[in-house]
Amino acid sequence: MTLHSSRRSPTDTAVDTLLIPVFTTDAADLSQLAGFPRPAEERLRAVVGSAEMGGKVGQLLTLHLPGGGDVSRLLLVGLGEADQLTPQTIREGVAAAMRSVGSQAGQRVGIMLRSGSLAPAVFAQAAVLGAHLALFTVDSYRTEDVSPIQVEAFYVLTSDEDPRLDEAIQRGTILGQAVNFARFLVNEPSNRLTPTMLAHHAQEMANDVGLQSDILNEDKMRDLGMEALLAVARGSTEEPRLITLRYTPPDGAAGGETIALIGKGITFDTGGISLKPAENMEKMKYDMAGGAAVLGAMQAIAQLKPRVNVLGIVPSCENMPSGKAARPGDVVRTMLGKTVEIINTDAEGRLLLCDAMAYARRLGATCMVDVATLTGAIAVALGLRYAGLFSHHPVMVEALQAAARAADERVWPLPLDMEYREQIKSDIADIKNVGGKYAGSITAAWFLREFAGDVPWAHLDIANVAWNPENKPHLPKGPTGFGVATLVEFVLARAQG
Ligand code: BES
Ligand code: ZN
Ligand code: MN
Repeated sequence: MTLHSSRRSPTDTAVDTLLIPVFTTDAADLSQLAGFPRPAEERLRAVVGSAEMGGKVGQLLTLHLPGGGDVSRLLLVGLGEADQLTPQTIREGVAAAMRSVGSQAGQRVGIMLRSGSLAPAVFAQAAVLGAHLALFTVDSYRTEDVSPIQVEAFYVLTSDEDPRLDEAIQRGTILGQAVNFARFLVNEPSNRLTPTMLAHHAQEMANDVGLQSDILNEDKMRDLGMEALLAVARGSTEEPRLITLRYTPPDGAAGGETIALIGKGITFDTGGISLKPAENMEKMKYDMAGGAAVLGAMQAIAQLKPRVNVLGIVPSCENMPSGKAARPGDVVRTMLGKTVEIINTDAEGRLLLCDAMAYARRLGATCMVDVATLTGAIAVALGLRYAGLFSHHPVMVEALQAAARAADERVWPLPLDMEYREQIKSDIADIKNVGGKYAGSITAAWFLREFAGDVPWAHLDIANVAWNPENKPHLPKGPTGFGVATLVEFVLARAQG
């Protein structure tokens, strides 16, 4: 569903639901809430500052207004202290509010712009993003008891006519749609999202937003020498795909840099011959979340038009056991020429990504960021809050930390000292694909680092943050779209030099 978002005058309150941000300080100064139509203002004065709506973060209160007026429902959203407002509070508050009214919201929703200590444009972008994120539903295959949210328009109500507000609303829309595109892909079950289907969706999106696309099949990959990628793909009857999307800035790139965004696209990970236990295996449909993040980011980048070349590369296949599957102990020759001993067929992500990285370099990448649900160990190291960030390049570490901060996503750097490299030495080949019991996320990153060469590279392990394990007011159990916003911010910042 597409949601139209725009700025409107605050007197133009012909909406079904009006969101009103409430700060904890409002109770002491109710004049802040003046200027509403009489019945609304009276109800606001009565309730703001009460236990029901003290303005605390997380508080929501619906007030129905007498019929006949413009607005049928006020939805008060607590946003905490005005001078401590953050984009995250706004985004999550708006998303939670929209989700709480659900299909009752009506077709038109408005929000009063109240940006506290933040710039109005920051408020507008976060609110519009939150509104978009709220509309994503995870139960798209339910045929009974469905009541989809049907909001068609979301207005930011303000008398401020600064054009930066319109830009911010536009950016919130573009980002929200991109994150939801990634979430859609991640949520699709593996029988519906095969590598072939993933490539179709990528191509369709590319056509919509004006990106070049190039989809390689198995024969092309064999010609390129991608034995590692094909070792993973061969166990499945589903054909592998290597998706490449290319963004070229309209007026030429300054400096000639080409950023490659590379995402793991395992549409289902059984573990292969090193089979995973049955419990929770159904979750392994989200093993393409890195690829989805790259595709979402490319969708946004095509619309935001930064002055830098960007490649989006998603190697995609299934990891299945079969009579044709790769075995533990097999040795393959990667596209770069390095040989790999496959100790555990469940460590398949790195086998896919190493050939995709070689391919990115072949296409002229001068900088690479890969995003992957690479290791369960990242949850042991960082829990479920921060994604792991790895790089051999201090500038890249800082750039990705800054991008994540701007994107309101959390990443934390982990070390890549030479000592860890010892763990992936092989008796028979250049390296092996697992590094033993300790520091599993670091040895996985070290494997990838082997293929970066001198090209500035960073790796985000998102296995712990790509799937939200329980319902929250602002976010349903399911795909988060993690990484889209960070990749976009990284590219935007890099384009500015
Ligand atoms: N896709 C998994 C990692 C994963 C685990 C993602 C849990 C999301 C949730 C990856 O391919 C994998 O199986 N990694 C192994 C590596 C091991 C064999 C060295 C793991 O984490 O157990
Ligand atoms: Zn995997
Ligand atoms: Mn695996």
